[in-house]
Amino acid sequence: MPRSTPLPIVVLISGSGTNLQAIIDQIQGGQLNAEIKAVISNRPGVKGLQRAKAAGIPARVLDHSQYDSRESFDEALEQLIDSYQPELVILAGFMRILTAPLVEHYQCRMLNIHPSLLPDFRGLNTHQRALDAGRELHGVSVHFVTNELDSGPVVLQAVIEVNGDDTADTLAERIHQQEHIIYPMVIGWFADGRLSCNNNQAILDGQLITTPPKWINQQLRMD
Ligand code: GAR
Repeated sequence: MPRSTPLPIVVLISGSGTNLQAIIDQIQGGQLNAEIKAVISNRPGVKGLQRAKAAGIPARVLDHSQYDSRESFDEALEQLIDSYQPELVILAGFMRILTAPLVEHYQCRMLNIHPSLLPDFRGLNTHQRALDAGRELHGVSVHFVTNELDSGPVVLQAVIEVNGDDTADTLAERIHQQEHIIYPMVIGWFADGRLSCNNNQAILDGQLITTPPKWINQQLRMD
């Protein structure tokens, strides 16, 4: 059921923030019933922080290099996030491995976008690895975050064809375009109460997601 008040979210970034921008644009355009309470970057000076400020959103830096352990950084991060009382935390190019207590604290309340067709190519350099493996199809996945890196239940994947002359850069560019469509779409499902998760499984419209829906050629396929 659509909510009467916008879904409060916090967005975590480490860089350029084009996914953040897509979410901002959809909220401002009235297509996404959410409110970004804060944007938090673990790196100072990144473009995503400027995007947040330009949209009038609190832009916070929590510099991981100022902390002597992953645990102490994640504790501070959790406190900062919780001070904004989000119902959903969005990882949008947040390039940090999270500790188990943080992930458990946000169980079923934290989404990530990863530029591959999971479970293929977890980790880094996904576009080059897809090319090296000779894949004809490549894509991007939105998933709930669990303790294992890039392994939580997938909610939606966008699929693109790999062309003979593609490079990691051209793939990254086309994947980014897809990300900007599917990430706000999934956040919208959550905001509208259609999406949840339980026991490491994603649930959409009351059905367990066993085969993730696909966004292909500008169409949503649920089969
Ligand atoms: C996106 O391509 C996202 O899929 C990727 O970082 C990029 C951030 O772009 N995330 C990961 O690789 C996470 N493992 P953006 O800063 O322009 O939104």
